[in-house]
Amino acid sequence: MEDKIRVLLSEEEVNERICQIAEQISRDYEGKSLHLICILKGGVFFTCELAKRLTVPVSLDFMSVSSYGDDTKSSGVVRIVKDLDEPLADRDVLIVEDIIDSGRTLSYLIEVLKQRGPKSIRLCTLLDKPERRVKKQVTVDYTCFTIPDEFVVGYGLDYAQKYRNLPYIGVVEL
Ligand code: IMP
Ligand code: MG
Repeated sequence: MEDKIRVLLSEEEVNERICQIAEQISRDYEGKSLHLICILKGGVFFTCELAKRLTVPVSLDFMSVSSYGDDTKSSGVVRIVKDLDEPLADRDVLIVEDIIDSGRTLSYLIEVLKQRGPKSIRLCTLLDKPERRVKKQVTVDYTCFTIPDEFVVGYGLDYAQKYRNLPYIGVVEL
């Protein structure tokens, strides 16, 4: 059966906001190169759209961590499923995520990546659900949208692996 999906952020709104954030990041990193770390799978759509709009030199790497099963609740377990291909030493690193929810994934990941000696490390997310935060110490440097505590899909975000390809952000009406 098809799920009913309500549009929360339209394709136009998302695109416009990504352009703004890309401009801001390009300004902040002027004269530097930026090493983007895409958190798979959810971060992949946002990473591509963001990277295309950055005007500083960009390199890309990918990492896959698991913190959720095929349900809508956090298991609290974070595991590196696929590690980066390249070292981070002396690089200006920007982690690109789809959504920060409890913050468990990122608080763990930032600690792991800091050990690898980057020159700097910042966090950029498409969506932030601050009401759900358990790990309060996670600071998000660039947020496209702050959203209420609703389970969202699209633009990389899935519900049981479905809907990642929606070009907008929607809420599944369960
Ligand atoms: P955190 O560790 O609780 O911050 O979880 C972050 C991860 O949970 C994200 O990278 C998503 O993969 C997933 N997640 C959290 N909220 C949602 C949602 O509303 N829709 C889809 N996935 C979500
Ligand atoms: Mg994710």
